[in-house]
Amino acid sequence: MSEVAAHYENLLARHYTWMLGADFEELVAEQRQLLDSLDISAFEPNAIVLDLGCGSGIHSVALAQLGYATVISIDVSPTLVAELTARTSAYPAIRPVHADLCAGLDAAVEPQSIATAVCMGDTLPHLPDTTAIGRLVEDVFNVLTPGGTFVLTFRDLTIPLAGLDRFIQVRADHERIMTCFLEDESDAVRVHDLIHTRDADGTWRLGKSSYRKLRLPPTWVSGLLREVGFVVAPVKSGPYGMCVITARRPERARPVRAVP
Ligand SMILES: C[S@@+](CC[C@H](N)C(=O)[O-])C[C@H]1O[C@@H](n2cnc3c(N)ncnc32)[C@H](O)[C@@H]1O
Repeated sequence: MSEVAAHYENLLARHYTWMLGADFEELVAEQRQLLDSLDISAFEPNAIVLDLGCGSGIHSVALAQLGYATVISIDVSPTLVAELTARTSAYPAIRPVHADLCAGLDAAVEPQSIATAVCMGDTLPHLPDTTAIGRLVEDVFNVLTPGGTFVLTFRDLTIPLAGLDRFIQVRADHERIMTCFLEDESDAVRVHDLIHTRDADGTWRLGKSSYRKLRLPPTWVSGLLREVGFVVAPVKSGPYGMCVITARRPERARPVRAVP
């Protein structure tokens, strides 16, 4: 199991939706509005969309609500895939898949069958290195139909935080307190998650775990998408300090050779 997958299974997955800080339906509505504003709702009646690193499903539900016939929702965390499955029983369009994005998309998806792919909410910097990101971008290019769209949102972590600014209170309530500490690792940030939970007898218990998140300059991601063959729109600012990149596979495009 990769370090990221272990981090989610050992600690973060069971607190993930709570960490997002709002009611699930509110989060879905916010992301639906964002997706709608990105001009991805003009699609054929049987269109398939891929949600890459879907977590507990806020984008998958938003995409089902936008009218996609099939939403293939992929995540490496069994706990989050189980949560998404339980939350989305009212949406038969959503097909949860437990898989690692680094293992390729062939097992889950036919070539040139996907109208839209999204990789949102900072999933991209969770991949182990830039080679894995390059492979994923090529895989997405090859599964998209000509004219298909790829939407990415992620945090620009290229400016390191210093001193006490590296300690971030993520969320706190009467039962749980989540604090994050960010440690510089040059081309990456080590994210230490510290989660206090209160037992029934009032005792506070500390859960802790860490993982590496890549520092990805948005211009580097745009450049990579162009290199692979996408037509890329200018980087925009989105909710929660995320940058938003929309890329389109041209109608006439050479198929991309897999990175060796
Ligand atoms: C920050 S969360 C974003 C989840 C969701 N997109 C959202 O915005 O709520 C990152 C997600 O990526 C998943 N993930 C990380 N590395 C992955 C990989 N190699 N393959 C599949 N999923 C991965 C994690 O399990 C987690 O659910």
